[in-house]
Amino acid sequence: MSNDLYAVVGHPIGHSKSPRIHSLFASQTGEPVEYTAIQAPLDDFTTTVRQFFEGGGKGLNVTVPFKEQAWRLAESRTTRAEKAGAANTLYHNSEGQLVADNTDGCGLVRDLMSNHGVKLEGARILVLGAGGAVRGVLGPLLAQKPASLKIANRTVAKADALLALFADEAGAADLSACGFDEPDQPFDVIVNGTSASLQGDLPPLRANVIAAGTVVYDMMYSLQTTTFNQWALDNGAVEVFDGLGMLVEQAAESFRVWRGVYPETAPVIDTLRND
Ligand code: ATR
Repeated sequence: MSNDLYAVVGHPIGHSKSPRIHSLFASQTGEPVEYTAIQAPLDDFTTTVRQFFEGGGKGLNVTVPFKEQAWRLAESRTTRAEKAGAANTLYHNSEGQLVADNTDGCGLVRDLMSNHGVKLEGARILVLGAGGAVRGVLGPLLAQKPASLKIANRTVAKADALLALFADEAGAADLSACGFDEPDQPFDVIVNGTSASLQGDLPPLRANVIAAGTVVYDMMYSLQTTTFNQWALDNGAVEVFDGLGMLVEQAAESFRVWRGVYPETAPVIDTLRND
């Protein structure tokens, strides 16, 4: 029997860990999955997607810079993708419609709660950034019923826009938006969703947002401690995590959407950490 074909599409795509992650899932679960990486031309994502599915492909992951395009291209969207405004997972449903899903927020929440034992219910959460990455995780974070969630961003108007967009999902949580200079007391959980560290920059936060019990999570990952996590450690944080676990968990959730099986993620995270 031949394998079912899956792929990740992005530009550039050479450094993507997704093929490695999904091939580890396939061998662990015995699912007949073959997973490759495709670099789509920047101006023709649509043709790449069409050709992949016409060639018999079963499902795609989508990464930078095509997540919003994938969302627009789909004929149907899951509830979590609808609000995220971006898609990282595509497949066809039984009616033949192209469905967009977004597993990023689920990946973050699972990594925090299941892998790191972080309690989100009742927590005071500070989220840094207001771009696509943050928009993708706000719904799943709010679904855990934090006491409060503050969105801080360099461009405050973008944080305000996300506040308006997610007001209906806040429930009893105190949802607010501000600039980086405003937060002035400790948080239980701080999630960095800015791309500042790509430029070696730091969001200019006050150090008193960190207390001994603060959990700091950088959605970026790298071999070395990320710039943001190093800043947090230097300012008294005890628990800092990078986004490798989120990457593996979002992949596992895509695998579950496609195959109906949720792989064990801990051994895969360990393997990637030691690659
Ligand atoms: P992504 O898909 O990674 O979220 P994005 O939509 O371009 O990418 O958003 C990038 C986020 O990182 C934004 O919140 C951006 O702040 P602005 O909205 O003010 O642009 C933030 N960001 C990027 N570079 C930054 C820097 N040097 N310092 C602080 N924030 C930065």
